Order: sequence, then C-alpha cells, then structure tokens
Amino acid sequence: MQLLTISRWVAAVPALATAVTAYGNFSHTCQDIELVKTDVRATCLDETAAILYTNELDLNLCVGLDQTTAQLKWELLGKFSLYCVNCALAWIPAPLLTCSCAPLAGGNANNATLNLDDGVGNSNGTLTCRTGQGFPVSKPKRST
Ligand SMILES: *[C@@H]1O[C@H](CO)[C@@H](O)[C@H](O)[C@H]1NC(C)=O
Ligand SMILES: *[C@@H]1O[C@H](CO)[C@@H](O)[C@H](O)[C@H]1NC(C)=O
Ligand SMILES: *[C@@H]1O[C@H](CO)[C@@H](O)[C@H](O)[C@H]1NC(C)=O
Repeated sequence: MQLLTISRWVAAVPALATAVTAYGNFSHTCQDIELVKTDVRATCLDETAAILYTNELDLNLCVGLDQTTAQLKWELLGKFSLYCVNCALAWIPAPLLTCSCAPLAGGNANNATLNLDDGVGNSNGTLTCRTGQGFPVSKPKRST
C-alpha cells in the first residue's frame, strides 16, 4: 500500500512545476495518506518539491451527503459524519472514501464512495478542499 502511494508520488513530481490547478489530485504529490476519524492525514510536498509537510484535513469541512441519493458529495461544511459510519479509504484506482451512509429521512444505509482526488488538493504542502475551505486549523508541521 505504501509502495503504491510512493510510486505515484514520485511519478508526479516532474509535473509539479507546471501544476496550476489548486484543487485535486493530492495523492499525486502526497504520501502516507490515511483516514483518521473524519480527517485525511498526509505528508505533502511543497511546490519546490523540496520540503514535506504533515497535514490533517477534516473532511467534515467539505464533504456532505446528498439527501436524495444518499451519495457522498463535495459540500461546504457538509459534515458527512453526521450521516455516515464505518468510513475507510480504499486505494484502487484512487483514494476513495467509502462509508455506510443514511439520509436524514431514514431508510436503509447505503454504501457511498467519493474519490478524494477529485476535491482535495495539495497547495504548496497544505491540504485544501475544492470548496475553498479546509485549510488546517494549525499550520502543517514540517517533516524531513
Ligand atoms: C488529476 O489527474 C487525472 C489523471 O492523471 C487527470 O485526468 C485530471 O485532469 C487531474 N485533475 C486535476 C484537477 O489536476
Ligand atoms: C456495503 O459494503 C459492505 C462491504 O463491502 C457489504 O458487506 C455490504 O453488503 C454493502 N451494503 C450494501 C447495502 O450494499
Ligand atoms: C511555498 O512554500 C515554500 C516553503 O515550503 C515557500 O518558500 C514558498 O514561498 C511558498 N510559495 C508560495 C507561492 O507561497
């Protein structure tokens, strides 16, 4: 698992200099990616590809649940954890957040999946969400 992460990261480094998109594909330039409660934790390269920063980004800031379809979606202050349990990260073909989610109206829990690479980006070593929120409360710690 770690090998996969690292090889993806190394392969993406040459593209860093020309990367202009602020959000998305954080897994290409971050390593040691894991889910800790509602946080995605990762160690990410800054834009010089020289310094690594450790981050924890609370996905409740930008992931919610579509109350009609019971699917995870990108939503400002979406607080998906109010509706979802048993969340984990799957790795093929991307960092997929998978949970069992039930909408407010009730009904059966539904398996829901969201590709975190679609909405989490690495902004100069800091994990960010596509909703524009989600900068960590504390400054990411530098890691060597
Ligand atoms: C993320 O990577 C995929 C596959 O390499 C690419 O198609 C997509 O455009 C990238 N998205 C962003 C936001 O860079
Ligand atoms: C959800 O996924 C789990 C694990 O893969 C599976 O055991 C369960 O049957 C699934 N539930 C539904 C409602 O699809
Ligand atoms: C990116 O972070 C590095 C330190 O890791 C800093 O030297 C550089 O100025 C930052 N770039 C921008 C555009 O903020």
